[in-house]
Amino acid sequence: MKLCMIGTGYVGLVSGVCFSDLGNDVVCVDKDVDKINNLKKGIMPIYEPGLEELVLKNYKNKRLNFSTNLRESVRKSDIIFICVGTPTKKKSNNADLSQVYSVGKEIAKYINRFKIVINKSTVPVTTGDEIEKIISKKVDKKYFSVVSNPEFLREGEAIRDFIYPDRIVVGSNDKKSKKILKNLYSPLVSKGSKFLVTNRRAAELIKYASNAFLATKITFINEIANLCEKTGIDVEDISIGIGLDKRIGSRFLRAGPAYGGSCFPKDTKAIVSTASKYKTNLSVIKSVIKSNNIRSDLLLKRVDSIMKNRIKNKTISFLGVTFKANTDDMRDSSSLKLIPYLSKKGAKIKYYDPSGAKKEFIKLKNVKFSNSIQESIKDSHLVIIHTEWNDFKSINFKKFSKNKKLIIFDMRNIFPPNKIKNLGFKYFGIGR
Ligand code: UDX
Repeated sequence: MKLCMIGTGYVGLVSGVCFSDLGNDVVCVDKDVDKINNLKKGIMPIYEPGLEELVLKNYKNKRLNFSTNLRESVRKSDIIFICVGTPTKKKSNNADLSQVYSVGKEIAKYINRFKIVINKSTVPVTTGDEIEKIISKKVDKKYFSVVSNPEFLREGEAIRDFIYPDRIVVGSNDKKSKKILKNLYSPLVSKGSKFLVTNRRAAELIKYASNAFLATKITFINEIANLCEKTGIDVEDISIGIGLDKRIGSRFLRAGPAYGGSCFPKDTKAIVSTASKYKTNLSVIKSVIKSNNIRSDLLLKRVDSIMKNRIKNKTISFLGVTFKANTDDMRDSSSLKLIPYLSKKGAKIKYYDPSGAKKEFIKLKNVKFSNSIQESIKDSHLVIIHTEWNDFKSINFKKFSKNKKLIIFDMRNIFPPNKIKNLGFKYFGIGR
C-alpha cells in the first residue's frame, strides 16, 4: 500500500519506517527542511535504538522516502497518517490541536481519489469528528474516511512496540476503512497481536485512558513506596507480591522518581480537561497529577535528610538525567526539578548521561557534564542514580571513588542494597 506520514517526529518516523519494512511504500513528510535533508543523508532527528539501521535499509531499497512536498505526497498515497504534535496549550491543560487541524485543511486541498485519513496523534475525543467536518468542506464524503488509530509506542522501545504490539486499535465508523486497515496490519496480527475495532470516538479515548491508567499505576506504587520507607519494607517485594495477581499485573509497578516524558504528564492533564468540558470529574486522575507534581519535592526532602541538611559545597553526581533510559528526551524529566534546586542550594553538580550533555543545564551555576561515569563519580559526596540505563547497572564504585564516605541514592532501585553496603558505602533506594 502507498502510505504518507505527515509529521516526522517520534510517531511518524518510527511508524513510517516500520510500515515500509513490512513492504509498504512510505513517504514521511515534514515542513522542517533540515530534518528531511538530514534524514535523506541518514542523520536521525531522535535517538531511538534500532531506528537508524531500519531507516538506512528501507531508504536504500526505496520503500521509504522523505519529502517536504505535502501536496504530491498526499496525492500519490492511499492512506494518510496525521502524526503531528498535540502539546499542552500555554496557560491551560487543554491539548493544542492547531497542528492537527491545519494538516486536516491541507489534506483536504489535495484529495484526488478515495483516501483514508488516519489520526495517529493523541487527540481528545471528538477530534476525528472535527477533522471530518474540515475535510468535508472541500471534499465529498464518499472520497475519504477519517479513522483513529492511536499509537502505544514507548520511547527507547518504539520499534519493538510497533512490531509486537499488545493490541492494535482502530476506531472507524465505516466498513471499507476497517477492512483496508485490517489488511495493512495483517503481518502484525498474524504474529499474534490483537486487532480491536471500535467506533472512532472510543479509539480516541482508549489512548488517553491507557496513559492515564499507567500513570495511575506508577503513582500508586510511588505512594506505597513512601509508606515502605517509613515501615522498613522493601517496595520491590510489594511490586512482586501484588503484580503476581493477574488482575493487577506486574508491569509499570517500578517505584522511582516522578513519571515524566512526552505523554503521561500531557495526556493526564488533557483527559481531565476534556472530561470537565463534558461536566465529568475525573477525580482519580486529578489526584495522580497532584501526587506526581509533588513527588520531586519529596525526593528533594529525602536528599536533604540523607545529606543531613548540608548540601552547600557538596559534590553531587547525577547518573542519567533523561526521563527514562534509552532516550535522549528531557521532556518533563524529574531531573529538571532536582538539579536546579540542588544547584541553588549551593551543591556542585556533575552529571553523566549516555545520551550526552543537555542544553537545559547550560545556564545553571555549578552544573557540569562529565564525559564518563568515572569522571562524574570521582570526588563526589553523593551519587544519585536518576535513570536506569544498563550502563549504570554494574558500576564498580570502589574502583571509581576514593571517598570512603560516598553515599549512593539509587532512585531506580537498580542495585541490591546489600551489594553497596558490603562495599562500605551508604545506600538509599526508593521505598526501601
Ligand atoms: C508512554 C506509554 O507507555 C506509551 O504507550 C505511549 O504511547 C507514550 O507514552 P513513554 O513516555 O515513552 O511511553 O515511556 P514509559 O516507558 O511509558 O514511561 C513513562 C514514565 O513513567 C517514565 O518517566 C518512566 O520512568 C516512568 N515509569 C514507567 C516508572 O516510573 N515506573 C514504571 O514502572 C514504568
